[in-house]
Amino acid sequence: MEKTFLMVKPDGVQRNLIGDIIARFERKGFKLAGAKLMTVSNALAEEHYGEHKDKPFFGELVDFITSGPVFAMVWEGEDVITTARTMMGATKPSEAAPGTIRGDYGVTVGKNVIHGSDSKESADREIGLFFETSELVNYEKDS
Ligand code: CMP
Repeated sequence: MEKTFLMVKPDGVQRNLIGDIIARFERKGFKLAGAKLMTVSNALAEEHYGEHKDKPFFGELVDFITSGPVFAMVWEGEDVITTARTMMGATKPSEAAPGTIRGDYGVTVGKNVIHGSDSKESADREIGLFFETSELVNYEKDS
């Protein structure tokens, strides 16, 4: 089953949005395969956002994601990578449609509440960076 990596960013955790965000993906029919509240180290942030290392906002991005607890999650289901991106809305909250997570809660492009993998390759890489295999449940085996 397809898996994606989603992370409620420090602004979302601070604003008590974890429950609402989990509820949206549960209601949609996706299965939560792993989750943890954690603080991202500088090394992990730099690796996770490696593709942005030459962007002018890279320092700001790393500072923000390490500034407070995040809620890291692995979700699974059919087409979950693309569907989760649609449910999150555009990166810039000013362009995110109402009804999407960023459209409803996002404030700025930096403080945009949630991160989600943008491809199968990113999902595999990001899940591997944040989770050990032993931290993920296997519904097919456990049910
Ligand atoms: P995310 O999906 O976590 O992946 C990369 C992040 O870079 C993106 O969400 C935005 O929060 C952030 N980002 C993109 N553009 C800018 C910008 N101009 N200034 C600050 N952060 C940005």
